[in-house]
Amino acid sequence: MRTRLVVGNWKMNGSRAANAALLQAVRASGPWTAEVAVCVPAPYLVETALALQGSMMSWGAQDCSAHEAGAYTGEVAASMLAEFGCRYAIVGHSERRAYHGESDQVVADKAKRALAHGLTPIVCVGETLAQREAGETEAVVKRQMSAVIRTLEHCISQVVVAYEPVWAIGTGRTASPAQAQAVHALLRGQLLAATEKAAQMRLLYGGSVKADNAPALFAEPDIDGGLIGGASLVATEFAAICRAAARP
Ligand code: PGA
Repeated sequence: MRTRLVVGNWKMNGSRAANAALLQAVRASGPWTAEVAVCVPAPYLVETALALQGSMMSWGAQDCSAHEAGAYTGEVAASMLAEFGCRYAIVGHSERRAYHGESDQVVADKAKRALAHGLTPIVCVGETLAQREAGETEAVVKRQMSAVIRTLEHCISQVVVAYEPVWAIGTGRTASPAQAQAVHALLRGQLLAATEKAAQMRLLYGGSVKADNAPALFAEPDIDGGLIGGASLVATEFAAICRAAARP
């Protein structure tokens, strides 16, 4: 049985005061049967680690460098994230692919670097609205996934995958449970062809997940939790999503 996972992706939001209140409220709303994590902006990692120490929650980053170390101004190495107790690093979020020109191979290299330092990469894949309307969803997510499979080889079973249709991110427009499940099943099949451990891998859905639509999404057989943006900034909403991820 796969343990469900709910990950908050704060994106570029927060302040020291707001974070302290949010983390305290979320922490106090546990325990959950699902695993819960928050991926915070890098400058807040120390305080997040202090706030969550000894709790059931884990924490992580929203990106990491594809490089080990050196002259890469502004980048944060996976080894640095590991020093701050990060368990996860999101890689290949569609906002990074779109605004920072990250290619499938760069995303795969980031995933490899994260794994090398003991972090679990949360690899995001997903199609744009134009791609969905052109009937390209399957080809796009398979292409994005296959770069990671090729690069990680036998380690691929150690990643978490997040299917995030770009048209559903921050738009209030969620994929229907059936639409999400169809892509998750496709990804599971692709991963199964690469590793027999794919049955144990966690595939998250992300894109306008809220407390009210989470139960139906999590009821789908191949949806093992969520990557939560906007709703992760509201303690009551995030806590309700974490509760919804309990296995029946
Ligand atoms: P959203 O973001 O929940 O605000 O749509 C999800 C994500 O981008 O990870």
